[in-house]
Amino acid sequence: CGIVGYVGGQQAAPLLLEGLTRLEHRGYDSAGVAVLGTSGVRVAKKAGRVRDLSDELPKRFAGKVGIGHTRWATHGPATDVNAHPHTDTKGDVAVVHNGIIDNAAALRQQLADDGVDLVSDTDTEVLAHLVARSDADTLEGKVRDALALVDGTYGIAVMHADFPDRLVVARNGSPLIIGVGEKEMHVASDLAALVRYTTTVAHLDDGELATLTATGFTTYRQDPGSSGLSTTGKAATTVDIDPAAYDAGEYDSFMYKEMLEQPAAAERVLRGRLDERFGTAHLGGLNMDPRETRAIRRVKILGCGSAYYVGQMGAALLEELARIPADAEAASEFRYRNPVIEPDTLYVAVSQSGETIDTLLAVQEVRRKGGRVVGLVNVVGSAIARECDGGIYLHAGPEVAVASTKALTNMFLGFALLALQLGRVRDLSIADGKRLIEGLSRIPGQIAQILEREDELAEVATRLAESESLFFIGRVRGFPAAREGAQKFKEISYRHAEAYQTSELKHGPLALISEAVPTVAVVPDDELTSRNVGALHEIAARRGPLVVVTHEGVDLGEVAAVRIDVPRNERELDPILLTVPLQMLAYHAALHLGHDIDKPRNLAKSVTVE
Ligand code: G6P
Repeated sequence: CGIVGYVGGQQAAPLLLEGLTRLEHRGYDSAGVAVLGTSGVRVAKKAGRVRDLSDELPKRFAGKVGIGHTRWATHGPATDVNAHPHTDTKGDVAVVHNGIIDNAAALRQQLADDGVDLVSDTDTEVLAHLVARSDADTLEGKVRDALALVDGTYGIAVMHADFPDRLVVARNGSPLIIGVGEKEMHVASDLAALVRYTTTVAHLDDGELATLTATGFTTYRQDPGSSGLSTTGKAATTVDIDPAAYDAGEYDSFMYKEMLEQPAAAERVLRGRLDERFGTAHLGGLNMDPRETRAIRRVKILGCGSAYYVGQMGAALLEELARIPADAEAASEFRYRNPVIEPDTLYVAVSQSGETIDTLLAVQEVRRKGGRVVGLVNVVGSAIARECDGGIYLHAGPEVAVASTKALTNMFLGFALLALQLGRVRDLSIADGKRLIEGLSRIPGQIAQILEREDELAEVATRLAESESLFFIGRVRGFPAAREGAQKFKEISYRHAEAYQTSELKHGPLALISEAVPTVAVVPDDELTSRNVGALHEIAARRGPLVVVTHEGVDLGEVAAVRIDVPRNERELDPILLTVPLQMLAYHAALHLGHDIDKPRNLAKSVTVE
């Protein structure tokens, strides 16, 4: 979900709508805005996209204070009534909210018992009623009173007809950033919605409230054990961000733009971290000395979605290069099985956004039990980054498309750097270290070479898009690439794409192979090539169409297949080069089918609710 807010000298509604379109990747099943004008609070909200809302906005929707929201439904279906902002019964208070109020059911019951008529199914609506019912004489006091009754996570923005010069915002677990303009203030849950207006910003911390007026902002914290608020005196700082990074510009989608940015992004994550002399990596941000690094006996990688699949690639790299037992697990599962946390295990949290709640809660579970966690995170200063003991920033630049491309590539490279550093304090030889560094330096150029073959990949994708169901197969190093390929394909083409270990094909899925079910096979030139080719024969014998992502010179025998050759590198680094063409296949299949590439149905870029 996404939040925007404005107070200043201009009409709020157009600014809010513009901000919401920049947050739409965070949720897009409903949108709404509220403004405060001479006739009080007015709300317009709707299930559907921001542009549906703009199309139907009343002609006269005047007000120079306003809040807006784009929603990804959790409590209650995506309907007009459940869209934010929510108001109290009189319509004086309007609230937008990200996060989840855990005790919403109890609060709804109490309000209903008091005769309050709740109109939506949401947890957020209670906040509007609670603010309205407080007898504090300031808006800050009313918000504080409401929040004192609430358990859960929130980023909220509140306005009130009796306090027409201000917005009050508060954060607990869900980001909020204040943007300082010329005689105007903005607020948003993501920098993306602010950079067009200002790069002078202040990040709220958990437990903080803030007041925004046209002339400035003040931050507060609730005094422990008292009902008062004390100011925290937070000042704004200037962030070094190119607003163009948040614009798709000449490209038809962010995903396409971000795919093409991969060579440059890959160079950034490697820059300054490769030590050619000693064949190792320098990762100062890990905050670990060589003795601590050596003491690690096991690595456990935690992430969700694509971050989980790249975590599997990372685990293989760590085992191969550092010879440390390593595995990846979906962070969303890990936390719920009362995991054993070992002191000599290094936990690695992987996340583009640094906000994914499942990953964040997994990190907190590890820390609560005394484990050491490092992060592989793209967004600097995000919740996961702050929660970790150290980490490797990915420097991919802002990623907007739901389907991750450049961040994923940089996650893989981050793992390669980590494996190098862990390997070189163990048994990885200096010669092998140098060999890998040389390989890593070639990756950006090789990704560019793959991307240049877009026309050929588009043609293959168009054919694959015609099938209702596909397999993506690979084994050992190739399997996580197949999983990620299937994930991307299903996310944006809505075709049923299933990943399988090539070796397991004959133990089940072979029953489904037919002319109508193509297989995309990942077959690198490695010690398993001939076995992989054997499996291709089994598929071909059942007339299953084949697309094989492989290396030049690999002999596929008599098998009729469309082949996509990727450049050779060091074997350990193959997985990422095998993944890049699969991104293009997913993208072109979705494009051919006419889908919204950046905003696939039912998904959101960062899932900040459980
Ligand atoms: C969501 C997105 C996925 C993404 C995952 C993890 O499920 O739809 O594309 O891979 O979250 O996001 P993160 O920001 O933690 O990498």
